[in-house]
Amino acid sequence: MLAGYAKASGQAPQAVRGQQFFDATHGKEWSCSTCHTKLPTAEGTHASTRKAITPLAPAANAKRFTDSAKTEKWFRRNCNDVLGRECTAAEKADVLAWLISLKP
Ligand code: HEC
Repeated sequence: MLAGYAKASGQAPQAVRGQQFFDATHGKEWSCSTCHTKLPTAEGTHASTRKAITPLAPAANAKRFTDSAKTEKWFRRNCNDVLGRECTAAEKADVLAWLISLKP
């Protein structure tokens, strides 16, 4: 999946940029870390429903990023909530590169 996003973006993914993107707000109330925590090897909490969200980092949750339809669905929904638009392929590649680099 990472290779696909990187190819579509035409640039090399950068984990550091992914972390900054994940932690920052983008003109709206929430950042990605609001629900997924700043260290997504941990369980998150939905900002409005307060429901638990299993860890987003593959090291802590083997099911993550194994189903591209699911990943795309949630990138679309979450990016719209946080940025008011869809994420670019480059943004997805950076976030994924960072998430993959996290250790349990
Ligand atoms: C309002 C809470 C909330 C915010 C903010 C949020 N997410 Fe999520 N995210 C969820 C929920 C809920 C799910 C789906 C439930 C699950 O898979 O545990 C999810 C799932 C995902 C998935 C699916 C991963 C997979 O393949 O299993 C990705 C990718 C994701 N989020 C990325 C992001 C990114 C990137 C941002 C910031 C732009 C973000 N999320 C912000 C709540 C949030």
